[in-house]
Amino acid sequence: MREYLDQGRKTVDDALEELMPREGSRPSDLVAAMRYSLFAGGKRIRPILVLAAVEAAGGNARDAMFAACAVEMVHTYSLIHDDLPAMDDDDYRRGVPTCHRKFGEATAILAGDALLTLAFDVLSDSGSDSNIDAKVRIMMIHELARAAGWTGMVGGQQVDVASEGTEPDLPTLQYIHTHKTGAMIRCSVLLGGFASNADDALINSLRTYGERLGLAFQVVDDILDITSTTEELGKDQGSDASRGKMTYPALFGLEEARERAAELIHEAKTALISVSNKDRLTGIADFVLKRRL
Ligand code: IPE
Ligand code: IPE
Ligand code: MG
Ligand code: MG
Ligand code: MG
Repeated sequence: MREYLDQGRKTVDDALEELMPREGSRPSDLVAAMRYSLFAGGKRIRPILVLAAVEAAGGNARDAMFAACAVEMVHTYSLIHDDLPAMDDDDYRRGVPTCHRKFGEATAILAGDALLTLAFDVLSDSGSDSNIDAKVRIMMIHELARAAGWTGMVGGQQVDVASEGTEPDLPTLQYIHTHKTGAMIRCSVLLGGFASNADDALINSLRTYGERLGLAFQVVDDILDITSTTEELGKDQGSDASRGKMTYPALFGLEEARERAAELIHEAKTALISVSNKDRLTGIADFVLKRRL
């Protein structure tokens, strides 16, 4: 599995390189900031999920690469904005100073905006070397817009920020986590299904898998914020506690949060019961639970 993830990361990075503006392109500070955050590292778990879902659905990974890249661009934008002083106010990301620390706030905001819009440029570019037809592209654009915007990630981020320092309650916590993180992860899996013209039954299995995995991913992120180190994480450890974030460990304690993450991973894998080529998706689910960064 480690080898599969390493290989996936490399393949995705090569494809991203093809789609990104070259270093030095004008406006050079904007492009430098976009590239800095995108290529600083990152597990690339979302694009790898797109490709793993394609494998499960018997599709062509090459044809889906543009969608995998679009998802990673939106994700990196969300990290740049998440770290801003007006949001989590963090100093480290992917092992290096955060985008606004390195380039200033204005450039970091714009680099995020540019990555977000580039993602939709890439998704809608029918001139790209992919055989995905226009109808499927529109489904992908729609799904990503819903997952990224007010009905998804942005909506979750709003409630996350607005809930700082308030008494945790499960409905709010679940809203935050399924939206700020779950939506983009579920979307990644679905885009892989769409790219492969998966039938409704398979799409439903992938959706449930993505939903459970997405929530588990954020529960584990909350746990690691407490149990890991800044060096291991490549981002500021303890950030949640210092901002009074609503997290699973804050509501349930570490032990129960761990149990809930394990249950969710079990549910994610169970959703794939009737899927034949599911080994990669199952492996990713196990990785999400055991990861240390
Ligand atoms: C961090 O995501 C933000 C969350 C949604 C929890 P990742 O843990 O996937 O971060 P990278 O992409 O590997 O840096
Ligand atoms: C952020 O959640 C989810 C995003 C939409 C970026 P966190 O604020 O917990 O993510 P980290 O821990 O900073 O990566
Ligand atoms: Mg945050
Ligand atoms: Mg954060
Ligand atoms: Mg976190």
